[in-house]
Amino acid sequence: MSSQEQGAYHKFRVAHADAPSGCPVDHEFTTFDREYLKNPYDRLARIRAEHPVFYSEKLGYLVVTRMEDVQEIFRDHEQFSSENVQDPVFPICANASAVLGVEDFNPVAVMSNRQQPDHTRIKKYTSAAFSGRRMKLLEPYIKKRSQELIDAMLDAGGPVDFVSAFGHPLPGQIIFRFLGFDESDDAQLIRWTANRMAFTWGKPNDSEQVEIAENMLRYWRYCRRHVAHRVDHRADDLTSELLAAHDADPEQLTYREVESIIYGLSFAGHEIVSNFMSNALLCLLPRRDDWSAISKDPTLIANALEEVLRFESPQTSWRRITRKESSIGGIHIPVGTPVFLSLAAANRQPELFHSPNSFDIKRENARKHISFGLGIHFCLGARLARMEAAIALETLATRIPDLRLVDDQDLSYSANITFRGPEALMVDW
Ligand code: HEM
Repeated sequence: MSSQEQGAYHKFRVAHADAPSGCPVDHEFTTFDREYLKNPYDRLARIRAEHPVFYSEKLGYLVVTRMEDVQEIFRDHEQFSSENVQDPVFPICANASAVLGVEDFNPVAVMSNRQQPDHTRIKKYTSAAFSGRRMKLLEPYIKKRSQELIDAMLDAGGPVDFVSAFGHPLPGQIIFRFLGFDESDDAQLIRWTANRMAFTWGKPNDSEQVEIAENMLRYWRYCRRHVAHRVDHRADDLTSELLAAHDADPEQLTYREVESIIYGLSFAGHEIVSNFMSNALLCLLPRRDDWSAISKDPTLIANALEEVLRFESPQTSWRRITRKESSIGGIHIPVGTPVFLSLAAANRQPELFHSPNSFDIKRENARKHISFGLGIHFCLGARLARMEAAIALETLATRIPDLRLVDDQDLSYSANITFRGPEALMVDW
């Protein structure tokens, strides 16, 4: 199956539609300018108040900012299809398309962009594989790696970039162990999976696209070799569990779907968790009372992390495309309209969250955020992400209680429409 066929994991089509008639048009809104990347919240609050549903001319998307509208769209997967969530926002150049056009680059859509009834068929197996038992098996590894990365930070001495020293390697290594990849391959795997975010959700230039595409191909081939090896060498890992499900009923979970799940999870479970951890430090370290409270009482961490997901989410948006004529917020939407759901705007809606622009680790309804989505595509890794971040934060807060941000940093954010976290975050102690 080539990448452009129906059912492929990566489709290189770029959805575009004109403004639905009667819909307010915003000629300026884009997620790519420096001001928005640094702080999307002020602009989103203004827009949500002025025109909660509007067409962004620069993005070519209908933008939805209110929680009730975002939830309605997530719930209605028939009308609002997720088939476009892995499509690039801007066209991929011919050379990069050619790299991925080879015959053996053939991962299939398995979860986020897979439609019914297949989505439910496949998710039965992936949900089982993300069971409490497998999480428990992973917990000691997460604790051990967190301690080791902190040892290395302390040995090197501050100031240090938290992202490269801890926030980026830890979730990568965790997902690779979860899938059953060999530890000796970690460095190379991290290189191959780098910048996937930019490829689909950003604006990389042509040569960057080619480099990312070459690494995606290398990584897909690695996943295929790994699954093939596990056929005869089973272990207690996710790959073996999915292969056992395939053996039991090859039509219910195909071999290609097993390969594609392994391929997709390394991205779904890596950079977003890095951003989650960095955003948690950005929220907590400057608020010394909060940091000292969680250092002394780690039971406060779970709710503090929910508040991070509400206040400074690592995922600020997600997408859908209309399959049927529909209407949202009183706007009539034709078939084929790409929709940009602003999770960041919904998470700070004043009618739902008291003083939405204040960060409050004890906020009672912090968990009502929409950062993991809703409905049939609700994030498969929510439990894992919460566990990783909680262990990381507890280990950091108890081992380095005087951890702090280096003053006057000019933070930079990767230019993309969805994922948000600082590219580097200098800390000291
Ligand atoms: C804080 C970290 C994370 C956030 C904020 C997040 C957010 C999301 C969101 C918003 C969706 C789309 C939900 C929808 O369409 O309704 C999603 C889907 C998904 N996430 Fe996550 N995610 C995180 C971590 C992870 C991790 C660690 C993994 C795996 C190891 C993961 C795997 C997935 C998968 C497979 C889907 C597609 C599920 C489906 O379509 O059924 N995520 N995530």
